This record gives sequence, C-alpha cells and structure tokens, in this order.
Amino acid sequence: MTETVVTDAKPAPAKKAVPDTQTVTAVKHWTDRLFSFRCTRPSSLRFRSGEFVMIGLMTTDEKTGREKPLLRAYSIASPSWDEELEFYSIKVEDGPLTSRLQHIKVGDKIVLRPKPVGTLVHDALLPGKRLWFFATGTGFAPFASLLREPQTYEDYDEIVITHTCREVGELTYGRELIEGLKDDELLNEVIGDGFWKKIKYYPTTTREESPKMGRITDLMRSGEAFRDLDVAPLNPESDRAMICGNLAFNLELKEMFEEYGLKEGANSDPQHYVVEKAFLD
Ligand SMILES: Cc1cc2nc3c(=O)[nH]c(=O)nc-3n(C[C@H](O)[C@H](O)[C@H](O)COP(=O)(O)OP(=O)(O)OC[C@H]3O[C@@H](n4cnc5c(N)ncnc54)[C@H](O)[C@@H]3O)c2cc1C
Ligand SMILES: NC(=O)c1ccc[n+]([C@@H]2O[C@H](COP(=O)([O-])OP(=O)(O)OC[C@H]3O[C@@H](n4cnc5c(N)ncnc54)[C@H](OP(=O)(O)O)[C@@H]3O)[C@@H](O)[C@H]2O)c1
Repeated sequence: MTETVVTDAKPAPAKKAVPDTQTVTAVKHWTDRLFSFRCTRPSSLRFRSGEFVMIGLMTTDEKTGREKPLLRAYSIASPSWDEELEFYSIKVEDGPLTSRLQHIKVGDKIVLRPKPVGTLVHDALLPGKRLWFFATGTGFAPFASLLREPQTYEDYDEIVITHTCREVGELTYGRELIEGLKDDELLNEVIGDGFWKKIKYYPTTTREESPKMGRITDLMRSGEAFRDLDVAPLNPESDRAMICGNLAFNLELKEMFEEYGLKEGANSDPQHYVVEKAFLD
C-alpha cells in the first residue's frame, strides 16, 4: 500500500527575473544633447574594448502596471581593464529611453544586461601598421574605449581618429579624452612614454565654424584630409579601419574603402575594416 503524504507546503512561486542593476557613480553633461556617465561594473562582466551592451531603466507598463526594463544598445566607452563602466549618450527629446536617462544622478540605478557583443574589436582586423577610427556624433563611444586600450598601441605604429559633428561643442568629449591620454598612468606604464605621439586627431564640423569644416567623406574624396594628416590614402597592405556613425556615413565609407581595395571583416573572418551603426535610423 502506498502512503500519501499530505503537507500544506505550497509550490514554490515561479522565480521573478531580477534585472541586473548597476549604480551610477558620475554624470557629466557636455552639451544640451550629449552627456556621459559612469557606473559600477558587475564583477563577472568581461568584454573586449569596442563592444556594446544593452542598458536602460525600469519603466512601468501603462496597461499592466508592471515594472519592466526599457533597454537600448550602448557602446561601452571605457576600456576592458577599467573597474567601472562609462557610457557616452545622446539626449533625444522624445526618445523613450534618453528623455529619462538624461536626468540620472549619482546613486541612481540603471539596468545592464551583461552580454557584450560587437564587431569594433581588434580581433576582427588583420594585423596592420596604421589604424583609423572614423566616427560621427556619439559614434566616438567605442573609440573612447579602444583609445584607452593598451593593445591599440601595441598592435599599430599610428592611430588616426576622425570625428565629424555638426557643432564644435559636440567634439569636446572626444577632444578632452584624447588630450587626457598623455596623463593616462596605465598606458604610460604599459606602453611607455610617448605612446600618445602615435595619435593623429582630425576633428571636423559641418554646421558651425571650426578650424576644419566639412564631412570627412568629402575631405577624403578631395584629398584634403590626407594632405592635412600627411598620410597616404588607405591601402589594404598597411591600413586598418573601424567605422561608427549614422547609416549613410557608414555606407559611404564602406563604398570608398571597397574602392581602395579594403575588405570588411567580422569576428569570424578578420579583414581590413569593420563597421557598426552608432544608432538605428
Ligand atoms: C550597436 C549600437 C550601439 C549604440 N551605442 C550608442 C551609444 O554609445 N550612445 C548613444 O547615445 N546611443 C547609442 N546607440 C543608440 C541607442 O541604442 C538609442 O537609440 C539611444 O539611446 C536613444 O534611445 P531612445 O529610446 O531615447 O530613442 P530611440 O527611439 O532609440 O531613437 C529615436 C531616434 O533618435 C535618433 N538617435 C538615437 N540614438 C542616437 C544617437 N546616438 N545619436 C544621434 N541620434 C540618435 C534616431 O534618429 C532615432 O530614430 C547605439 C545603437 C546601436 C544599434
Ligand atoms: N546635432 C544637433 O544639433 C541636432 C539637433 C536637433 C536634432 N538633431 C537630430 O538628431 C539626429 C542625429 O543628429 P546628430 O547630429 O547627432 O547625427 P548626424 O545627423 O548623424 O550628424 C553627425 C555628423 O555626421 C555628418 N554626416 C551625416 N551624414 C554623413 C555622411 N553620409 N557622410 C559624412 N558625414 C555625414 C553630419 O554632417 P551634416 O551636418 O552635413 O549632415 C554631422 O556633421 C538627427 O535625426 C537630427 O535631426 C540633431
């Protein structure tokens, strides 16, 4: 005879997925459309400089009243070795996430899905001599990570950064970061004195007066950018490139690179250049 055991134990409730939250440690506003912030880093998070993750805020679903995360893709702007994470963000006035994210303060929580991915990584490029970073707007973010990554200087003799923005103020985050590299203790220690002399920085604006006006694509087509930088146009023997900007910019550069004979790479097939969208149009 089998004995039936009766207990008042209720079945365990289904486990509610707890979002991975991190704490904001610093916020800096650069213009009325741009800000950067830093947050704690999950101890288990490993990523390669240049990758992106999904981050966001908890929101209340209007229909059900339930809390749910509102997430967007963000390049990690800090390097892989940093104890904290840094992000560089747009403020879209009616953007579901950034209309709220722009108000975060030190001590606030953000949601972070610790699954880094992306193609703007050293692994997706064949060895080369000169590395180019081409950015528009917030597309500078992955390069803010790679510029603080020792491997960038170990692997290349020269690094050229082009950054095209509408207005002068939109260049400040990138400019200050590049100027600050000289005093970067880790890079000075690991790479040695003067690593920053390998860097050529080429900022341009299109809608406000600045020392160099124009879209980088036009400046390259006319040859002006290469004359200013005192380098030859890109070639597959020596040059490697990473592109991160709006869709039209990415497509124009891709077309130019294919004309130069450069091939697009991927994590599974390293080649001469890689591309990622800075945002979805
Ligand atoms: C791979 C990837 C990486 C990204 N990394 C970053 C990053 O590091 N920093 C960042 O600010 N954004 C980044 N984005 C864009 C980001 O995912 C969001 O679109 C952005 O935060 C706006 O969110 P939202 O909900 O406020 O508006 P959304 O509904 O997402 O966007 C509304 C509109 O705003 C414009 N827009 C969105 N993002 C930008 C931008 N960055 N620059 C200019 N216009 C934009 C577009 O016209 C878009 O249609 C990335 C996107 C992708 C696909
Ligand atoms: N930046 C602002 O002040 C501002 C203000 C309000 C709203 N917005 C909106 O925000 C969104 C994004 O604006 P954003 O300025 O961050 O990014 P963006 O429109 O992608 O422009 C960033 C820079 O990239 C240049 N660019 C665009 N297409 C290019 C191409 N095919 N080749 C080479 N360069 C190219 C732009 O030059 P051009 O100037 O020649 O296009 C600009 O200098 C847009 O939808 C815009 O309407 C922007």
